[in-house]
Amino acid sequence: MKKAFRYILIVLLVAFIIMQFFQPKKNLGILSTGKDLFSQVYVDDSIKLLLETSCFDCHSNHTNYPWYGQISPISIFLNKHVTEGKEKLNFTEWQSYPDKEKISNLVDIYDEVEGGDMPLESYLKIHKDAVLSEHERDLIMSWAEKEGLVLLNKKEE
Ligand code: HEC
Repeated sequence: MKKAFRYILIVLLVAFIIMQFFQPKKNLGILSTGKDLFSQVYVDDSIKLLLETSCFDCHSNHTNYPWYGQISPISIFLNKHVTEGKEKLNFTEWQSYPDKEKISNLVDIYDEVEGGDMPLESYLKIHKDAVLSEHERDLIMSWAEKEGLVLLNKKEE
């Protein structure tokens, strides 16, 4: 029995070591691309900081990885969030979205932040600095609303 247990432990350890050679590609692109959210429109510094701190790890081309983010299978789990998050909304590619998509993204941002669904719960457990206070949520929501209205009015001209 004892022997079997040791055998299983060794197999698991070897599997864990092998897994380390299979890492997902890291999200370490450049943030200022000329197409990013901040490049063509004025965004207040306070909003900029909030989005960078609470959203950019999963919604931009650059993630600040924690040290354990290099360890598989955690790295695979993180990569899934980054890939899916970026697919839905990428602040680094913001200016390449047509106005209609920008508006629908702004509405989604408003809804997600209002409902407390973003940032993801699992992320907030580790990133305490990304937790949004009620005031900070209000700031993001009013920014999204204002920005959305600007684009809507532009469309009607
Ligand atoms: C830990 C990673 C992570 C962080 C941090 C994060 N998101 Fe997300 N976000 C995701 C993932 C994954 C999805 C896609 C799956 C889903 O909708 O739950 C997503 C989806 C979204 C969507 C699209 C929702 C929809 O219904 O299509 C919006 C809008 C959004 N996030 C806004 C934000 C905002 C704003 C912040 C910061 C306040 C933020 N997210 C922080 C991972 C993240």
